[in-house]
Amino acid sequence: MDLHKEPQPQKLSHFSIPFHNKNDLTYALVFFIFLLIISIVFCNFITPHILPFGFYKTLPETQPKQSINTCDYSYGKWVWDETYPTRKYDEDCPFLDPGFRCHRNGRPDSGYVKWRWQPHGCDLPRFDARDFLERSRNGRIVFAGDSIGRNQWESLLCMLSQGVSNLSTIYEEHGNPITKHKGFLSIKFHDYNLTIQYYRVPFLVRMDDPPENASAQVRRAIRVDKLHRFSLKWAGADVLVFSAGHWWNQDKTIKMGWYFQDEQALNMKMDVMEAFGKSLQTLKSWVYNSCDPEKSHIFFRSYSPVHYSDGEWNTGGHCDRSTAPETNNDNPETELLNNQIISNVVKDMQTTKRKVNFLNITYLTTMRKDGHPSRYRESGTPPSAPQDCSHWCLPGVPDTWNQLLYAQLLSTGFRVKGTG
Ligand SMILES: *[C@@H]1O[C@H](CO)[C@@H](O)[C@H](O)[C@H]1NC(C)=O
Ligand SMILES: *[C@@H]1O[C@H](CO)[C@@H](O)[C@H](O)[C@H]1NC(C)=O
Ligand SMILES: *[C@@H]1O[C@H](CO)[C@@H](O)[C@H](O)[C@H]1NC(C)=O
Ligand SMILES: *[C@@H]1O[C@H](CO)[C@@H](O)[C@H](O)[C@H]1NC(C)=O
Repeated sequence: MDLHKEPQPQKLSHFSIPFHNKNDLTYALVFFIFLLIISIVFCNFITPHILPFGFYKTLPETQPKQSINTCDYSYGKWVWDETYPTRKYDEDCPFLDPGFRCHRNGRPDSGYVKWRWQPHGCDLPRFDARDFLERSRNGRIVFAGDSIGRNQWESLLCMLSQGVSNLSTIYEEHGNPITKHKGFLSIKFHDYNLTIQYYRVPFLVRMDDPPENASAQVRRAIRVDKLHRFSLKWAGADVLVFSAGHWWNQDKTIKMGWYFQDEQALNMKMDVMEAFGKSLQTLKSWVYNSCDPEKSHIFFRSYSPVHYSDGEWNTGGHCDRSTAPETNNDNPETELLNNQIISNVVKDMQTTKRKVNFLNITYLTTMRKDGHPSRYRESGTPPSAPQDCSHWCLPGVPDTWNQLLYAQLLSTGFRVKGTG
């Protein structure tokens, strides 16, 4: 190695050792080279882009902001991986809704479980169920949101149950079956004293009867200034995963006579996205008032795309012709307005030293038109029923969301510090 061709860090240029003979000179040189190598390795490790060369320069130029510890998992590609399913749970997992068990419901192809998400420029940490459980010991994990959030909750239950040898030690705390519930389920991992809960709150905020002076077309009032009453039970959780999106549209609000109310008065003109933004501000205030900044890891999941072709969900749209991810998605589409709203609230909260994360799964999920139950819906569904192109088969795409959740938890040093 010719040292003089390589740029030397400033510090070393004045470095000298007194020597008297050839042997000393050799030792000095060896020592000098040793120091030089150590400093190059060290500098590269800490700040990979300070030096124009380096042993650790494996990160691509396109992601200059990336360092060893942080990685943008949201961007990358799906790669075929035959070994993938052997590391996963299957449809026998007792925590699955029948509607998510696609093979049982007649889906013939199984390629959709064999794709692994490969982020650009880094790897996702391997999902280690035992490690996740151990870190969560004596803790509580809460999913609050719509039925897509429930999809993700069931996926996490099944992924974590892989780390438990006796499935009977995992149960619903109140004995409720997984399919019939009144908006709340709490699964206990007994050996870890861990509960993982799901709260059905499609809007996150409260639904009320309309005020007395409201006009007849108003059937319900969506209170953008008040969180759902379930929020009383969220406080104190170690991990909170909020998801909302699928109900924030014209069809599921104003067109059904569900109008927005801010404080005392209905606002008949309030736009859906404005109402969504106000609701997230309400949620933000709740976090500030009710969550311990040291303890709670808070996640806002981005929008999970629906994939209806040749129509909408109620006009004969379908997604049953896809059996592989789409690959021609090099240019992410212009960002959805609701994701921008979520991301801005998250950024706002991140300035307060809270552990608030944006779980950005939209791009990777957009490519997975093949992952929906489509026409393989739970038995008893009439043949004329619409296809399901908004929920996800399990095992399937939400497992990747949970891999991202785990990765982001690891990068913020998640570990419940409780009793025992
Ligand atoms: C989510 O991730 C995708 C892919 O990296 C990116 O294009 C998009 O801008 C991100 N969304 C937000 C709101 O940050
Ligand atoms: C279980 O966890 C709760 C906190 O979620 C704690 O209060 C309780 O003491 C724990 N029980 C045991 C047996 O460690
Ligand atoms: C599994 O756990 C249940 C409930 O704690 C217990 O009754 C049963 O004996 C356990 N089975 C085995 C094989 O350990
Ligand atoms: C209904 O009553 C509220 C106060 O109780 C008032 O602010 C609002 O303007 C009234 N709306 C209509 C349509 O009269």
